Amino acid sequence: MSGKVVLITGGARGQGRSHAVRMAEEGADIIVTDVCEQLPFVDYDMSTREDLAETVALVEKSGRTCLSYEADARDVSRMREVVNEAVAQLGRLDTVIINHGISTRHDVHSEDADEIWDLIIDTNLSAVFKTVRATVPHMLENGGSIIVTASAAGLVPLFGNTAYAAAKHGVIGLVRTLAAELGPKWIRVNAVCPTAVATPLFLNDAHIKAFCGTDPDKTIEDMKWPAQTLNLLPVPWIEADAVSEAMLYLASDAAKYVTGVALPVDAGMTAQPPGITPFIGQRLWELSQ
Ligand SMILES: NC(=O)c1ccc[n+]([C@@H]2O[C@H](COP(=O)([O-])OP(=O)(O)OC[C@H]3O[C@@H](n4cnc5c(N)ncnc54)[C@H](O)[C@@H]3O)[C@@H](O)[C@H]2O)c1
Repeated sequence: MSGKVVLITGGARGQGRSHAVRMAEEGADIIVTDVCEQLPFVDYDMSTREDLAETVALVEKSGRTCLSYEADARDVSRMREVVNEAVAQLGRLDTVIINHGISTRHDVHSEDADEIWDLIIDTNLSAVFKTVRATVPHMLENGGSIIVTASAAGLVPLFGNTAYAAAKHGVIGLVRTLAAELGPKWIRVNAVCPTAVATPLFLNDAHIKAFCGTDPDKTIEDMKWPAQTLNLLPVPWIEADAVSEAMLYLASDAAKYVTGVALPVDAGMTAQPPGITPFIGQRLWELSQ
């Protein structure tokens, strides 16, 4: 990645921070954006501007430049402004990792389902398209790589996160369509589809409740066994740096002929034989008590 510039949305913490640090270790200069505020209905604490500053400090430890911006990916004018400013400073843009995203437990019966639907589709799907619109003009001349964080829930249904799964399925459709549209310009467009990842989006009270029931004494430790039924490999969730390795591959010239793919990094979640679902995991856990 030496000499390249990588932009990452949602880079204040979690997977976005891990991608920023990994790309910098490989020689890239970094632009990170994040909304850094609590969005309504999100059922866990979102990141802060202090988190964003911590990402910058970690990238700078590798001796690379890191420009950071508070920017809501849903706001295409703001995204254009920060992208134009950052690219003017760093001189180029090679890779765009559209990683930002939110989750909140809900289903079709939830009281606020209409508002949650709009929020999640705006954030996890429409803002992906808007980020592409803000960044792609800078890659038309030299080509580039756009990588979107979808989810295993973009390939298979998800229990209790209806709009999230719908948005992530939409993201994969968008990626495939953009790969066709932008291929003639040597802009590759791919998706990465992780299983559960050890970040605050997944390791939170709402998911403890989803996997372990309503007992308030249950902890993340109690989630391990039922969450493991998501995956074929014997892990309940994966680390963010495992996803960063896939990002690195898709960003690099090693993947120069790879476009339009949805790459699972999912411990086998999307290769599950029928019948083993989180729902069954939860029930088995209850029965074992
Ligand atoms: N954690 C998981 O289990 C998991 C699994 C599969 C896919 N994903 C996806 O991975 C991506 C990264 O999530 P994470 O696990 O690192 O969670 P995270 O909550 O740690 O990080 C997500 C970041 O996105 C930012 N963000 C949210 N909405 C934004 C917006 N409108 N504009 C700009 N920034 C915004 C948040 O502030 C946060 O810093 C998301 O797209 C998520 O849907 C997560």
